[in-house]
Amino acid sequence: MNFLIKSGQGLKGEITIPGDKSISHRSIILSSLAEGTSKIYGLLEGADCLATIEVFRNMGIKIVNEEGVYSIEGNGLRGLEAPQKPLDFGNSGTSIRLCSGILSAQNFQSTLVGDSSLSSRPMQRIVEPLTGMGAKITSNNGTLPLNISPTDSLHSIDYLLPVASAQVKSCVMLAALYAEGVTKIEEGSVTRDHTENMFKQFGIPLNIENSYSKKCISLGNINSINPTNIDICGDFSSAAFFILAGLICPKSDLLIKNVGINKTRIGLLHALRHMGANIQLINQKESIEPTADISVKSSNLKGITLNTDLVANMIDEMPVFFIAAALSDGVTIVKDAKELRTKESDRLQAMADSLSSFGVKHELEEDGIKIYGLGSKGVLNSTNINSHGDHRIAMASAIGSLRSENEVNILDCINVNTSFPNFVDTCKEIGIEIEQS
Ligand code: S3P
Repeated sequence: MNFLIKSGQGLKGEITIPGDKSISHRSIILSSLAEGTSKIYGLLEGADCLATIEVFRNMGIKIVNEEGVYSIEGNGLRGLEAPQKPLDFGNSGTSIRLCSGILSAQNFQSTLVGDSSLSSRPMQRIVEPLTGMGAKITSNNGTLPLNISPTDSLHSIDYLLPVASAQVKSCVMLAALYAEGVTKIEEGSVTRDHTENMFKQFGIPLNIENSYSKKCISLGNINSINPTNIDICGDFSSAAFFILAGLICPKSDLLIKNVGINKTRIGLLHALRHMGANIQLINQKESIEPTADISVKSSNLKGITLNTDLVANMIDEMPVFFIAAALSDGVTIVKDAKELRTKESDRLQAMADSLSSFGVKHELEEDGIKIYGLGSKGVLNSTNINSHGDHRIAMASAIGSLRSENEVNILDCINVNTSFPNFVDTCKEIGIEIEQS
């Protein structure tokens, strides 16, 4: 599936965007392990989360969707049934890494597979700590498939995260629910904390110590989890595309309603404000996952050197940030972002390719990029963009196309369905001319 998108301006309107992907996965996982029925409102009905639902259905969990409200009848921490076939996680790195933590503690064998993108992503980062906890897990040279054999018991570990990864942290936290002793996890760069928040929502005890540059989580094994109801906010990572649209299109004024503004997720907001973006948070609501409506107006942006402390908290928004940089006055420098090479595509390379096609001068490095902005009145080439089958490259490039000479073709966009199934309709709502073929 391809997108054809025309240059545009004067974007106006109020939009809502789909539920947060990270929170949606975690809500399905913990509800499946609880004892009784949890209801989930606002779940992201994208391919990634639907894959997680299928994984748990294949292990005997009853999940019913009634007009977008999902009822999940959890069977308890030890109530999953042995799957009759390999568990297919599709494109979802989050789901496979989190579920590995649970599957490592079960008394049945499981095989975990995914699509071609997921099959080339690094899995040693979870195999290593899980093996340290006593799991019997093997990979194919650090990639899929993963094979997990039954274990009698896991034991706790003290684990210093070698990479800034919420997926690895969450995998170990989930395994810790089954491990004898107290597991301690330390992270140097603070990554998204949705697992910690959802453990609190499900009443799972954990201790968190935060100091200036590190965070320590301790938790022990438990016998049961009580069900709960969860209301999921809009995904800041999906909102990011429309924040970009509002900023780079002249005469635009957008309101994006009910978006999650968890402080571990909004590095992009700080970076864009530093570039001169007119973005306001209104109607802020304090809650375990705080929300706001985001108001965005067209802005002239200037290039910056990105504060490396922000990288972990805007890792999924980097493609958006690169397009903002391409349309700024001056140079933007990003370093310490090597993790981008391990995502659904090698996002440093994929965005460098996209910038080349758009006619934006840049220098790609192993862990970052230097982008020479075309200026706040700059115009991108009308061209074809290869999305590398990566949803975020496709959507960031699609929005960048609004500042093209005329129109742009974005190729291989089917995976937009993983995180933002109604992206095209949402674009049309605010006056973007986009067609899919
Ligand atoms: C996620 C964590 C991040 C992010 C991904 C979602 C999560 O990955 O890129 O889209 O929900 O935990 P890493 O933990 O590998 O950085």
